[in-house]
Amino acid sequence: MKLTVIGTGYLGAVHAACMAEIGHEVLGVDVDAAKITALAAGRTPFFEPGLQELLSRGIDSGRLRFTTSLREAARFGGLHFLCVGTPQRPDGLGADLRHVDAVVDGLAPHLPPALIVGKSTVPVGTAERLTARLRAAGAPEVQLAWNPEFLREGHAVMDTLRPDRLVFGTGSRCAEKVLREVYAPLIRSGVPYVATDPATAELVKMAANSFLATKISFINAMAEVCDAAGADVTVLAHALGYDDRIGRSFLNAGLGFGGGCLPKDIRAFRARAAELGVGSVVAFLSEIDEINHRQRRRTVELTARLAGGSLPGRRIAVLGAAFKPDSDDVRDSPALAVAAQLHRERAVVRVHDPEALENAREAFPQLEYVSRVAKACEGADVVLHLTDWAEYRALAPDTLTPLVRRPCLLDARNSLDADFWIRAGWQYAALGRLGALPHLPSDASAAT
Ligand code: UDX
Repeated sequence: MKLTVIGTGYLGAVHAACMAEIGHEVLGVDVDAAKITALAAGRTPFFEPGLQELLSRGIDSGRLRFTTSLREAARFGGLHFLCVGTPQRPDGLGADLRHVDAVVDGLAPHLPPALIVGKSTVPVGTAERLTARLRAAGAPEVQLAWNPEFLREGHAVMDTLRPDRLVFGTGSRCAEKVLREVYAPLIRSGVPYVATDPATAELVKMAANSFLATKISFINAMAEVCDAAGADVTVLAHALGYDDRIGRSFLNAGLGFGGGCLPKDIRAFRARAAELGVGSVVAFLSEIDEINHRQRRRTVELTARLAGGSLPGRRIAVLGAAFKPDSDDVRDSPALAVAAQLHRERAVVRVHDPEALENAREAFPQLEYVSRVAKACEGADVVLHLTDWAEYRALAPDTLTPLVRRPCLLDARNSLDADFWIRAGWQYAALGRLGALPHLPSDASAAT
């Protein structure tokens, strides 16, 4: 089929490459000319495992092209995937839909009969509002459907080619049939799909992200209870996870969630629910947000404690800048938020990340960045593990011991091997296990 993918960020670039991979003829569209030039030359504008190969293959096959022209997109065919960003509004909690509106307004005057399929995460009611907008712009033969995307950065290619499920929110059997054709290879391979109306489809995505955020904040709340009670949150999560009704995933306690999706989506959901007159039923999401931010504050406080009670002049090695591993995305990165706060409190901070240094430098130019873990650790009073990269899990503590001023590690992702580090002579601390690891010093015996 011939289709366009409008918006070539994390979502759209992956969707375009994957659609070409399963045999469609794809035109990727973006207003950012530099991004389009890079993509057309086969270069991915961000780090995403597996995307580079897919992009090259799509371009070489002749099935994947790119343009900055919406007019060209409108004439390319009758199917358009909307993949533009829906960030938080600068003046409130709600989603900023200006990019979505701009695409629809830009397409409307040029469109022959067409189906526009939204993939971006939007407040419920957006498809209905955009349909009215299209009608008002004189494009009566254009239909709108919502087909939310659930991909995780770092796993985006596999999540697109082998998703848990597909959700088709359409207003007609005909639109549903088109979506079934688009995804036919996936459906044939056993991927389930749920056909529903656009409003339900929009809500599925908001509800899914709210649930995931809730799960993470739940375990982080338990982590704090564990610290007060001398229990171990990693064992708690392990035991909870055996219950099929709960499940083990998204119960990793630590520094909490960040990125371009979960934080802004739970806020946009609150804002939209309030508009619908049901704000109080999702009021708990503000607590989820608060618990999440609390982990950043706790990490800074614990760092100060481990550094001997005060931060000014203390050298802190920060391992990780991306909001999660296998990504160079630093949007609302918990790791960088902690690094920046430590810097504000006059610690001497050195940040390492395997992929995100360029983006981190742009977001927080005041911090010092280094390209080797060893360099970050030189003279460190405390080493902070803030993003769960495999590279950090493979670190050999013995190689770092001669470099640091004090062998003291705060594992804020609870993913390093505590015994391994402790046996190597390191002081090991982790949120949710502060009272459970007997070898940890008490407040009084922290660094001097
Ligand atoms: C998320 C959703 O998972 C995805 O379905 C949706 O399409 C977009 O938003 P993403 O933002 O890529 O995807 O990241 P995700 O893997 O969900 O992780 C989000 C954050 O939660 C990261 O900062 C991660 O470090 C943190 N996290 C995740 C935890 O702190 N604990 C966990 O147990 C899991």
